[in-house]
Amino acid sequence: MATTIAVLSQKGGTGKTTTVRTLTDVYRRAGLRTLAVDLDPQGNLADYFDVDPDAEPTIADVLAGSSQATEAIHDDVIPANLALAEAELVLGGKLGREMTLRRGLRDLGPLYDIILIDCPPALGLLTVNALVAADYALLSAEAQYFAMQGVEQALQVIELARDSLNPDLRLLGMVLNIADMRTVHSREALQSLTAAYGDQVFETVIRASIRYAESAERAVSILDFRPELGADYIALAGETLDRLGLEDARRRVRGLAGSTA
Ligand SMILES: Nc1ncnc2c1ncn2[C@@H]1O[C@H](COP(=O)(O)OP(=O)(O)O)[C@@H](O)[C@H]1O
Ligand SMILES: [Mg+2]
Repeated sequence: MATTIAVLSQKGGTGKTTTVRTLTDVYRRAGLRTLAVDLDPQGNLADYFDVDPDAEPTIADVLAGSSQATEAIHDDVIPANLALAEAELVLGGKLGREMTLRRGLRDLGPLYDIILIDCPPALGLLTVNALVAADYALLSAEAQYFAMQGVEQALQVIELARDSLNPDLRLLGMVLNIADMRTVHSREALQSLTAAYGDQVFETVIRASIRYAESAERAVSILDFRPELGADYIALAGETLDRLGLEDARRRVRGLAGSTA
């Protein structure tokens, strides 16, 4: 059965979509059958994976109940587009609105080892749907002032999902993203996160580099575009697999690290 991980943050621009894209790449290279689900009406994830922008059906159709999730998979990605904004509005008026994604993805369990969900840049109904559908939440925190505030708010929403609808939801961890450790504010962000949340903070910090925007534009994985930067995501993927107890895949990720060193 697939393990489902929702990647979230309280706002946009914290590296969520890049994290989903690149963890997906690492997991696949480690032999894990991995599905990436775009749950942001901006459709960035589908774009980063170069999914045909006209691909139908999308996650919006799954949430609306007009398509099965299996039909919405295009090259192991379920894409999103602006239709998702409308689907979210319609969903808001329905009974069981927080459970819709969970029900929609239910049949995919046997088909994948990992399902990664890319959340939109707000802690609204779509993110709650992701948290209710997930086994784990992974928090992305941008290394900026106010990072802590964003993390606290995201943790509250995780708590809410756990208390009400998904008692089994666990925090996989939080990652300091887009960090320039030469700057005081990145170092301070890491210190405050670690002081407050200890082991829940991943040891791996994702370094900031302009190469990420370039690789996204070309729809080429950072693992291939700049392997020396991709090493950060290989390390992060390794830590997540440790926490998930997926030892075989963990070992294969060590092999990937060797090949880029
Ligand atoms: N480690 C990084 N260093 C520098 N820029 C990054 C990094 N990761 C992502 N970016 C860029 O920052 C912007 C926001 O990243 P994205 O992953 O789309 O964040 P989110 O999904 O949280 O909005 C994009 O232009 C992306 O290419
Ligand atoms: Mg995004």
